[in-house]
Amino acid sequence: TRKIIIDTDPGQDDAVAILLALASPELELLGITCVAGNVPLDLTVSNARKICELAGRRDVRIFAGCDRPMSRALVTAEHVHGKTGLDGIVLPEPTMPVQEQHAVDFIIETLRAAGDRSITLVPIGPLTNIATVLHRAPELAAKIEEIVLMGGAYFEVGNITPTAEFNIYVDPEAAKIVLDAGVKVTMMPLDVTHKAMTSAAWVQQMRDLGTPLGEAVASWTDFFERFDMEKYGSGGAPLHDPCTIGYLIDPTLFSGRLINVEIEVDSPLTLGMTVADWWRVSKRAPNATFMGEVDRDRFFALISDRLATL
Ligand code: BDR
Ligand code: CA
Repeated sequence: TRKIIIDTDPGQDDAVAILLALASPELELLGITCVAGNVPLDLTVSNARKICELAGRRDVRIFAGCDRPMSRALVTAEHVHGKTGLDGIVLPEPTMPVQEQHAVDFIIETLRAAGDRSITLVPIGPLTNIATVLHRAPELAAKIEEIVLMGGAYFEVGNITPTAEFNIYVDPEAAKIVLDAGVKVTMMPLDVTHKAMTSAAWVQQMRDLGTPLGEAVASWTDFFERFDMEKYGSGGAPLHDPCTIGYLIDPTLFSGRLINVEIEVDSPLTLGMTVADWWRVSKRAPNATFMGEVDRDRFFALISDRLATL
């Protein structure tokens, strides 16, 4: 099994990623660290708790992390995820505990105690917590097996500005620190996640599970779909964040290229752009595997098979 920490800002698609991880024996979830992103930190923490309670997993350790980007004001995405961040269905107020330790301290402590290249970090929100860890304790990069993140966009360009994807845009300085850390990085950009669109049949399959969890996933998807429908005219909701967990379970679902990816942190026009050297026209060293394709049918079959077990 692979030891993972999910760093998240739930978010309907974050929720599906967390549930998929909880349903997967290949992965040992050491904890969930929350960050401000789609909605402010207090809501992302309470959403993470609701999601774990929905899965009957009150034992999962949940940590609150950074409440704003490293050097900018927080930008949120209620226009996509709704006021709560998890709009679509009303879940009970959570009662499971939040750990007292700060998320950054938890990650640092966990990495310190771990062997070399033994922990995988899965950031599916802005990269503030992860970058703060690497900034405070750069030597801990050696303990990380891989960082599998959702973020960035290249051919598919942006969803929050014409050139930037939300997670990178919110904290571009943090994204730069992560990509410069010398860790093995795998990125799921919009180029691949916009190919991971739910179908009406799949949503129905979730609903047909006849469980509160199946109903929640279907209702979240219905809500989340609206944004893409209005914006891109496409049917279905993109399951961005679950691509990271899908990759950890079965890497053959995805393909991409090991290339150089740099983050724009200066230009007001293209702030947060992931400048991906897909055609390898620069001499810059490769620092990330930038995914481009997903085997959509197998990916969605994996999610529904796994969620049926919860
Ligand atoms: C990313 O931004 C958030 O809105 C989603 O949860 C996902 O992590 C997509 O750009
Ligand atoms: Ca997210």
